[in-house]
Amino acid sequence: MSRVALVTGGSRGIGAAISVALKNAGYTVAANYAGNDEAAANFTAETGIKTYKWNVADYEASKAGIAQVEADLGPVDIVVANAGITRDAPFHKMTPEQWHQVIDTNLTGVFNTVHPVWSGMRDRKFGRVVVISSINGQKGQFGQVNYAATKAGDLGIVKSLAQEGARFGITANAICPGYIATEMVMAVPEKVRESIIAQIPTGRLGEPEEIARCVAFLVADDAAFVNGSTISANGGQFFV
Ligand SMILES: NC(=O)c1ccc[n+]([C@@H]2O[C@H](COP(=O)([O-])OP(=O)(O)OC[C@H]3O[C@@H](n4cnc5c(N)ncnc54)[C@H](OP(=O)(O)O)[C@@H]3O)[C@@H](O)[C@H]2O)c1
Repeated sequence: MSRVALVTGGSRGIGAAISVALKNAGYTVAANYAGNDEAAANFTAETGIKTYKWNVADYEASKAGIAQVEADLGPVDIVVANAGITRDAPFHKMTPEQWHQVIDTNLTGVFNTVHPVWSGMRDRKFGRVVVISSINGQKGQFGQVNYAATKAGDLGIVKSLAQEGARFGITANAICPGYIATEMVMAVPEKVRESIIAQIPTGRLGEPEEIARCVAFLVADDAAFVNGSTISANGGQFFV
């Protein structure tokens, strides 16, 4: 039987590319999403991948959603915490609401996604956790104090989970994408986008499939020795 992979935010953007790549690699995939039913229905129609709606910021909803995935498809062996949002503002204008929305979704959402599957992974002595962080968690970004805090936090999460999970056959790794051509990035004004591209040595935005390729590498059974690492996929824009 093929392993079951859960991808949060797996119906659009980078997450959709990850869901498809994992399906093509032979996994049974469940794609979670927040509320865009139309995009999720189209995604299922196009790919045959089942979609599940819940808010990753809500622990009980995550637990119930994951229980439904496991009832339908079997135990989750691979989890990709990809769901994320931005609520940008320079710090002096950032509201507590903008801070909390991003922390709740991007950081607490990772806890809410991994925690319900962690015990099962320990019991079965196998697990793959991948968290989609960001270049801006590595280097910070003007107007993204909230977002950068969550994405830097992701790196602390995987480095700690890697130590806790290793003896149970569980790995935890992060990917830090640079700027990728998804709705999140295409929503920024064209002038800003052009100035971003000017900073990327490769001279273009990344493609969602280029991040999905990193995920497929990390979740494979024979990637067991890659644990606690961060893959930077950013076109050479930033080196750690
Ligand atoms: N795009 C980039 O350049 C870039 C760069 C670095 C890192 N990242 C990270 O990569 C990840 C994906 O980004 P993207 O650009 O692909 O985003 P996107 O195109 O905006 O897609 C976001 C996905 O996450 C889901 N989502 C959002 N909030 C959620 C919540 N509370 N609960 C469940 N699902 C939720 C959305 O569901 P709905 O369809 O229902 O809204 C959608 O499926 C994010 O973590 C982002 O921070 C992106």
